[in-house]
Amino acid sequence: MAIALTPLHPLFVAAVSGVDLSQPLALDTIAEIDRAMDEHAVLLFRDQPLTQHQQVAFAQQFGPLDLGLKRLKKQPDRLAHEALMDISNVEADGRPAARDSRKIVSNIANQLWHSDSSFQNPPGKYSMLSAVVLPGRGGETEFVDLRAAYDALDPAMQAMIAVLEAEHDALHSRGLLGDDGYTPEQRAMIPPVTWPVVQTHPGSGRKLLFIGAHARAIHGMSLAEGRMLLADLLEHATAPNFVWRHEWRVGDLVMWDNRSTLHRGRRYDLSEPRELRRTTTVEPALVAA
Ligand code: OGA
Ligand code: MN
Repeated sequence: MAIALTPLHPLFVAAVSGVDLSQPLALDTIAEIDRAMDEHAVLLFRDQPLTQHQQVAFAQQFGPLDLGLKRLKKQPDRLAHEALMDISNVEADGRPAARDSRKIVSNIANQLWHSDSSFQNPPGKYSMLSAVVLPGRGGETEFVDLRAAYDALDPAMQAMIAVLEAEHDALHSRGLLGDDGYTPEQRAMIPPVTWPVVQTHPGSGRKLLFIGAHARAIHGMSLAEGRMLLADLLEHATAPNFVWRHEWRVGDLVMWDNRSTLHRGRRYDLSEPRELRRTTTVEPALVAA
């Protein structure tokens, strides 16, 4: 079955119709979605409410699944499957968590521009986020195109960053938000990883700027100089012309490529429930440019 694609932004993002994600996909449909991801980097599937089981089954068709930071958690999760990430602000009873809880810090950390699981090897490949309960206003999710951002850098900057490598650390963004109470054992479970700042996307062959909130340092630079460069590059990459904002409806599923995009959630009233569920696939390291 051929899927239909409708572009939603001049640079990236398409809406997909003609497929039912709750059912097993034909191999040629999976290949079409992979090709669409290589080209558009973010795909929106409307009106695809999935059970937890269906979402895991859908994701598994695109590769091995990421367990994210579940390793760090002592308590069992609200959701049934270990590969389902609870992108919500609610406790098991469905009510919003206390504002000073670690769950809310994680929620707010998602409001920093990032690429899922860039702090581990293998890093995140595709994320699939499904909307279950939404607040009255706010809580949109924004995406930027890191290929277009790379292309728009001036050639001197492209040359300067061509050989640079950045250290990505899962706990860096948490620390920025004041959550630095991790034990040495917890830290040892997720040691930082190093990725080239400029990478080549294996599916499209396009170069891209691989940065985001998990990048905490540039190798061979002082922390100050490296962080300022990362901040400058992030400012460049998140200029309005590279941004697409998704306003959620219940039943939406948005799938994005963590190698070629950054994303962030937007502010909402934390006393209102907001529940989304994420699955993420992983893939071995990107090819250095
Ligand atoms: C995520 C994420 C942002 C949001 O699910 O990985 O960053 O808007 N979500 O909830
Ligand atoms: Mn995320």
